[in-house]
Amino acid sequence: MSSIEEKLAQLSQATLDSLKAISENKQEDLQDLQELRVSVLGKKGSLTEILKGMKDVSAEMRPIIGKHVNEARDVLTKAFEETAQFLEEKRVEAQLAKESLDVTLPGRKLARGSRHILSQTSQEIEDMFIGMGYQVVDGFEVESDFYNFERMNLPKDHPARDMQDTFYITEEILMRTHTSPVQARAMDAHDFSKGPLKMISPGRVFRRDTDDATHSHQFHQIEGLVVGSDISMADLTGTLELVIKKMFGEERSIRLRPSYFPFTEPSVEVDVSCFKCGGQGCNVCKQTGWIEILGAGMVHPHVLEMSGIDSQKYSGFAFGLGQERIAMLRYGINDIRGFYQGDLRFSEQFK
Ligand code: DAH
Repeated sequence: MSSIEEKLAQLSQATLDSLKAISENKQEDLQDLQELRVSVLGKKGSLTEILKGMKDVSAEMRPIIGKHVNEARDVLTKAFEETAQFLEEKRVEAQLAKESLDVTLPGRKLARGSRHILSQTSQEIEDMFIGMGYQVVDGFEVESDFYNFERMNLPKDHPARDMQDTFYITEEILMRTHTSPVQARAMDAHDFSKGPLKMISPGRVFRRDTDDATHSHQFHQIEGLVVGSDISMADLTGTLELVIKKMFGEERSIRLRPSYFPFTEPSVEVDVSCFKCGGQGCNVCKQTGWIEILGAGMVHPHVLEMSGIDSQKYSGFAFGLGQERIAMLRYGINDIRGFYQGDLRFSEQFK
């Protein structure tokens, strides 16, 4: 054997032994492997060094030895590739073992949201009325002067319009000041030959108000309307008593005080006996024993007539309540702005 072939055999054996050691010792990383590869197969590596001896080889032996050199290079190249792949697999395996899922760990809790307290309030009231056979009707937040005012018996220049100044889109189109225009739209659409109209309509309303603890330029109401034959004040009282007791407690009583709304006659203001002091007088009821809850009344005959309803044949009652006011009273909320600021500390109290 020529000395080249001897050196070649030695180098091959030594390199294969090193690769085996690297494979067995899993601590060795790919970096070590790369260094070994450069020292053997690199431009200045051992194999190149051996090849320098070719110049002393006889012409007839050269092709044979050359072939052996090439074979040795191929074997070593392949061995390096296999070792690299092996080490990579081991690395991934170790990584996966570290990251494996421990099914005995307790699960992570997902933060659960909840409905806004105004939506909850509205939903609760809607459910009560749906239970009594009412339909829930949607209205328009952008309304005409005609429906918002005139059809509610508030002709142009009516002094009661002053209390409900609003945002005007044009002279005739405005942001509705109350949910009452839905009354007129519902009466227009109802077929009275099929029975009485019983509806509520929750929604957002707008006023030209300066925002403070008890005023907001946007707030929410729920309108209620029943029109049919023989609808009386007793129906209004009974209905409201039932709903108010459900909301504020069975031991509550209600009282009606005469009031004025252009679209009802007679009109009443409805109070509930104070749920804090039970009627004794305290800071919540301003020492009166009563808390004002909503406005109501018997639908004005002219309002019925404007919808083409014969006021001799049909009568009705209506009411309107403020959702924020109800929620503020029930939960002791003292600043209306809390509803709109989106502060989770406020919202989370009502989960
Ligand atoms: N629309 C009135 C307001 O916003 C509230 C109201 C009072 C509605 C009496 C009614 C009612 O339906 O009968 O101040």
